[in-house]
Amino acid sequence: MRVLFIGDIVGRPGQEFAADCLRDLIPKEEPDLVIANGENATHGKGLNSAAAEYLYDIGVELITLGNHTWDQKELLQFIDSDARIVRPANYPDGTPGRGFTVCNVRGMSVLVINVMGRTFLSQLDCPFRTVDKILEAYPEIRHVVVDVHAETTSEKIAMGWYLDGRVSAVIGTHTHVQTADERVLPAGTGFITDVGMVGPNDGILGIDRKLVLQKMLTHMPVRFQVADGPRQFCAVLLELSDETGRATSIRRIRVVE
Ligand SMILES: [Fe+2]
Ligand SMILES: [Fe+2]
Repeated sequence: MRVLFIGDIVGRPGQEFAADCLRDLIPKEEPDLVIANGENATHGKGLNSAAAEYLYDIGVELITLGNHTWDQKELLQFIDSDARIVRPANYPDGTPGRGFTVCNVRGMSVLVINVMGRTFLSQLDCPFRTVDKILEAYPEIRHVVVDVHAETTSEKIAMGWYLDGRVSAVIGTHTHVQTADERVLPAGTGFITDVGMVGPNDGILGIDRKLVLQKMLTHMPVRFQVADGPRQFCAVLLELSDETGRATSIRRIRVVE
């Protein structure tokens, strides 16, 4: 089974470049499942229904989220009814939406989990124990992909080692900067600290660099906007054993216009 995991899609430029790449570049990779982090898909902040529908139309099958989950209020109107959207599982009990989902790929069940790290982010429930509980509930599922949405490299690497041999892949998201440390860990879990983003290449994490610099230089309120210009597409392609669910390879993809 081949799984394509696309990094944080930022704004309209990210949506459109994801569409270009999924149409022109990705078909030759023959992915069986396409997952994307969509926490920045709507103007860089959150996910509304128009962005979700756009991503489904271009071939994204499941959307994971992160610390920007609730930036678009409209998400509350459809997150409970759309099983293709997964928000961090370690939000408090009673939070709308779901922290994991199970989909069917060529007759095989795939469990996709989203958790958020806690360093420099919200103090949610323990992400490690949260994943444990979900895995305990689905012992029969061999194909499991975890999106660990976290700020620090250490927390994401820790999650990779914690889950090695128990899940198919641990994919880091959130920093919007792709790391070059992709590997299959010894017990068979595909891992990368951060898959990167899809969006403007000459901004700061996808945001107009002039506005971010203005904020950093003045500490006055600034309304951020997604940048223009050339774009980048970042993803990883995982090859998973149909029989065991373990990763046999993980390959980084980064395309810059
Ligand atoms: Fe992001
Ligand atoms: Fe994030």
